[in-house]
Amino acid sequence: MTAGDATTGFGFGKVILLGEHAVVHGQPAVVAGMRAGVRAHASPGQGAISAPAWGMEAEVGDDSLPGQAVLRILERLRAPRDLDFWLECEVPARAGLGSSAAMSVAIARAVAARTGAGDELVAAAIADGESVFHRNPSGIDAAAASRGGLGRYDKQSGWQPLTCPVPIHLCVGLSGKTHDTGALVASVGQLCQTTPVARRLVEVLGDLSRAAAVALAAGDLSALARLFDLAHGLLAGLGVSSPELDDMVHTARAAGATGAKLTGAGGGGAVIALAGESGDEVLRAWRGKGYYGFLTSIGHD
Ligand code: MEV
Repeated sequence: MTAGDATTGFGFGKVILLGEHAVVHGQPAVVAGMRAGVRAHASPGQGAISAPAWGMEAEVGDDSLPGQAVLRILERLRAPRDLDFWLECEVPARAGLGSSAAMSVAIARAVAARTGAGDELVAAAIADGESVFHRNPSGIDAAAASRGGLGRYDKQSGWQPLTCPVPIHLCVGLSGKTHDTGALVASVGQLCQTTPVARRLVEVLGDLSRAAAVALAAGDLSALARLFDLAHGLLAGLGVSSPELDDMVHTARAAGATGAKLTGAGGGGAVIALAGESGDEVLRAWRGKGYYGFLTSIGHD
C-alpha cells in the first residue's frame, strides 16, 4: 500500500428479530446481519466524512455525531486525523437497521487496514464509535454489524451464532420517520424505574428471544411469526412503538403476514414481517399507504 491508496472496510446492516431494548437490560436478543450495509473508503486527506446516500457531510472531530464517533475511532486506533472517509451506504440512516454500527465497523476496519490494528483494538474502537451514537448501547448492533449472519446476543456472553435449516424471507418496512435510539433506550430505563412491573415485560421479551432461538433451530417460522406478534404488543406497552409502526404492523397482517413487529429501537424506524408467499402483497399494501418496503433473506446462504 502506498500513502495515497484508499483502504476499505465493510459493516453489515442488521435486523433484530426479537429482544430489542430487553438486551440493554441483560436479556438475550436474536439478530441477523443483512447483506446490505455500509462500505467505507479511507484515504489521506483532511478529515472529511461524506455519505452522499445519507445526505451527510461532516468532519472528523466536528460537533456532529458522525464527526465525534470517527474521532473516537481514530483515537482508539492511534491513527492520524488527516484521513478522508467516503461512505457507500446501502441501509437508511437512523431507521432501526443498524446504520450507525455499520458505519463504525466499516470505518474502523478501513482504518485498521492502514494501521494494522488487531481484532481486539478494532472491537474497542467500534464500541467507542457506537457509544457516541447510542450513549448506553448493549453492543448488539456492533456485534451484528461486525459478523453478519444469524446470532443470539446478550451482554454477558456476547454473540453466539444460530442456524436455521430453512431460508427466512423477511419483509422490511420503513416508516419514513427517523428516531433517536439513545432517547428511546433511556425512556425504557426510566419506565422500568418508575413502574417496576415494566421490568417483567422486559423479562418476557427475553423469554421470547429464547423461544425464537428454539423456533429458528427447528426451522419453525410459524412459531417465530407468533413471537413477532407477541413482541410487538410488549414493545408498544413499553412505549417504543409509534402510530406509523402500529399501522405498518396491522397492514402487514391484513395483507397476509403471519407475524409482524417493530425492529430496532422503535419510535419511528422500521418493522419486519414474516409473510411466506404473501411478501409481495405486504410490500404492495405498505406502498399503498406511502411506506417503502423491501424483501431480504437472512440466516441461510
Ligand atoms: C437498537 O438497535 C437496539 C436497542 O436494543 C439498543 C441496544 O441494544 O443498544 C434498542
